[in-house]
Amino acid sequence: MRRCTSAVALSFAAALLTVSACSKKTSPKKEPAEDKSADKGTDTAAKQPEQPAGGAQVEVFSWWTGPGEQEGLDAMIADFKTKNPGIEVINAAVSGGAGTNAKAILANRLQAGNPPDSYQRHAGLELADDIKADKLEDLTSLYDQQGWKDKMPKGLLEAITIDGKIYSVPVNIHRANLMWFLPKTLKELGLSGPPKTWKEFLTQAAAIKKKGKTPLAVGPQWTQKHLLETVLLGELGPDKYTGLWNGKTDWKSAEVIGALETFKKVLSFSDIKTAAADWQPAADRVADGTAVYFVMGDWLDGYWGRAKKMAFKTDYDVAPSPGTTGIYDFLSDSFTLPKGAKNHDAAVKWLEECGSTEGQDAFNPQKGSVPARTDADKSKYKDYLAVALKDWQDPSTKIVGSLAHGAVANNALNSEIDTALGLFAASGDAKAFAEAVGKAYEATK
Ligand code: GAL
Repeated sequence: MRRCTSAVALSFAAALLTVSACSKKTSPKKEPAEDKSADKGTDTAAKQPEQPAGGAQVEVFSWWTGPGEQEGLDAMIADFKTKNPGIEVINAAVSGGAGTNAKAILANRLQAGNPPDSYQRHAGLELADDIKADKLEDLTSLYDQQGWKDKMPKGLLEAITIDGKIYSVPVNIHRANLMWFLPKTLKELGLSGPPKTWKEFLTQAAAIKKKGKTPLAVGPQWTQKHLLETVLLGELGPDKYTGLWNGKTDWKSAEVIGALETFKKVLSFSDIKTAAADWQPAADRVADGTAVYFVMGDWLDGYWGRAKKMAFKTDYDVAPSPGTTGIYDFLSDSFTLPKGAKNHDAAVKWLEECGSTEGQDAFNPQKGSVPARTDADKSKYKDYLAVALKDWQDPSTKIVGSLAHGAVANNALNSEIDTALGLFAASGDAKAFAEAVGKAYEATK
């Protein structure tokens, strides 16, 4: 069936791009069959799967080990295996939400010239760091060969391109600005719905606290940074939020300080003093009714909806984080081909899987994300994901990029923000935080 997506406006970092992605029905080009004539006619040859010249294994590096994430990766690996039975996948995933541990290990491996064959990177400035450091192979010819250029939103391609060369294969689009809850808990508390503004959240939170529940669950520091980005977005709006990452919004302005003060209040209604060890245990506090809300990306839909088999709308529900209706705070997971990959040809096969409709349609419904491709099979995206797909493709949706997940800030700025945020959480000094981040932005741009 021919599918044609509507225009998607992707605006983040310095790039505000209007995207028109209408997929032409071109069958993916087949690779010329390898000449296995020497083996032909033997039983072994008939049973032996085709093996790429570079080796029969591929080491895939990610941080998808936890429930709701692993299932997605496993589904894509399973599809890969059906297409490439001769290639063994070494799943080198390192646990820790948002790649906190994986990124450190990866940095060491890249430094030591020992890259995995393909590794996960967020589209945007996080990936740009590796491109600038000359760590990655140019994948433009793979895009041409696979006909991918008109199968992905142009704005997304921009986020993985430098000097006209494309450096990774996006598998998905996640939404960060979401607030998760159980309808049952809200009902118990006499709340008619989740808060539409952070101001309303603070009012609800005061009442919730009196009733002995935690208004907001948080996890490790990256989840607090994730929360910070959604408070900034909700308080400043999409244009000024984007301005924080392209120099147009002054970090020291009264508006930004005001938003940071709100963040401070929001955090005071969280369980930060006994923060959960990762995003799943934080979500568990909402699932078991100890806490009421959790601001998290839609990988939580994979965790609750698939891994935990909770029913959307009945057992759990979600709304845009306060003040962000009509805005998609996006991030995208992509896979790369590092220079010096030991199993280059098998890595290319892996990337072909990542960019394929079958691969994306196996991965994303499990993962809680929508496909990066615009021609994926819509019928596979149900419940929350049907809404996400509709919103992502709605031309009136405003798209901004995630701070905590590598879209709008490079690694140096992100790490400066981590340090400043640690201090801010302890001191509560919004002005000092704004000053530190403003300086860091200038120093790292
Ligand atoms: C993000 C990543 C998501 C999900 C999340 C939680 O950085 O893009 O795919 O893995 O971390 O671990």
